[in-house]
Amino acid sequence: MSKLLVKGGNRLEGSIRVKGAKNSVLPILAATVLNGGINVIHDIPNLSDVKLMIKILKSIGCSVKKEGNTVIVDSSKLNNYEIPEDLVREMRSSIVFLGSVLTRCGKVQISYPGGCELGPRPIDLHLKALREMGATIKEEHGFLLCDLKNKLQGTEIQLDFPSVGATENIMLAAVFAEGTTIIRNAAREPEIQDLQTFINQMGGKVTGAGSATISIEGVNKNKLKDVEHRIIPDRIVAGTYLIAAAITRGDVILNNIIPEHIQSTLFKLREAGSTIISSKNSIRIIAPQNIRAIEAIRTMPYPGFPTDMQSQMMTLMAISDGITIFKENIFENRYKHANELTRMNANIKIDGRVAIVKGVKELSGATVSANDLRGGASLILAGLAADGQTIIENSKHVYRGYDNIDGDLNNVGAEIVRI
Ligand code: EPZ
Repeated sequence: MSKLLVKGGNRLEGSIRVKGAKNSVLPILAATVLNGGINVIHDIPNLSDVKLMIKILKSIGCSVKKEGNTVIVDSSKLNNYEIPEDLVREMRSSIVFLGSVLTRCGKVQISYPGGCELGPRPIDLHLKALREMGATIKEEHGFLLCDLKNKLQGTEIQLDFPSVGATENIMLAAVFAEGTTIIRNAAREPEIQDLQTFINQMGGKVTGAGSATISIEGVNKNKLKDVEHRIIPDRIVAGTYLIAAAITRGDVILNNIIPEHIQSTLFKLREAGSTIISSKNSIRIIAPQNIRAIEAIRTMPYPGFPTDMQSQMMTLMAISDGITIFKENIFENRYKHANELTRMNANIKIDGRVAIVKGVKELSGATVSANDLRGGASLILAGLAADGQTIIENSKHVYRGYDNIDGDLNNVGAEIVRI
């Protein structure tokens, strides 16, 4: 079992370059099957989730080469529409292959993605939309078997919830559909805009990403081109590092970040007393001597406060000068880190989707366990501020979404060791 040891009490100071966004890389890797050609993608982070996506691409006949942080996918020899069950069960976000393989091959077999550590993760919105576009989808023995009697039909889709995954699957499925597909109440995350850029560079015709209404005009399957693309910076990794600086009363500059993408986090950090100076592609945070409590944090779809930053912000509020009420509106079960923080002397009460955090003077180092990706990162942040040493078990969760977080933070003064 992989563990991290974090020594508390070091002030972080210096600069860190933010790498490419995990949640942009995953759908874009799925999109490489569309053009049956060469896709050169730069600034890909070294993550276990990315390795899994590459394994899936190879398993359906694509050839994939990795040169540093550049991945080259050749999807011309794609010869299989069955996505390996073990890989899908290991990473639910591989469901994004549903739309791209279905529209490229006319059929796809993929295992029903399990729930995950954040609670049940249904895909009802994905399936409803694809059926409205004309896909026949059978669900049996834990598998989804989809096929198309003929091309998918462009249609108007109203999402009940601005689901990121459902928006991405519909965009990918609609690229070759007959006519135009409109997605209303679409997710507006920057990663959706990055996917639109990638699809359009291939020769697709997508407009509106970043707004609540996205339009995809179907194009001829044989007219797509090779693509070269650079992934946008990871706004959640950036937000995590900003909180690492705030919680250690540090002074850190992040390079390669788009401030627009993390405005909600920046405003909360200012409310908590930090000074934030941002330029076109960098952000400097100067932490206050003491952290001010923020009255309320509600997670919302983008551009609201991101659910992926909730656990990290909770860690910061755990040593604030007052009480913060959290409301987790996106996932059912995203407070598992609270128990672990309590073991470190935090004062947190959970009541369903609400968490009440009363700041304490200091956290104390302890042995804690990571249950999910962002919760694991929040325990690293707690360890940085705690008195003494903290050991984080199951740190493999963290490597799913953070490329060398220990190395990055050690470069600005942290002392984190892999044991
Ligand atoms: C994406 O997950 C991200 N993952 C998540 O990041 C992120 O937390 C989430 O969006 C919300 O921003 C990737 O992009 C790979 P959703 P996704 O579909 O697409 C419910 C991380 O830490 N829902 O927007 O799975 C669902 O149960 C990860 O990097 C349905 O009910 O999120 C959840 O409660 C964690 N039916 C809510 O919507 C559906 O058909 C948000 O889900 C689909 C979703």
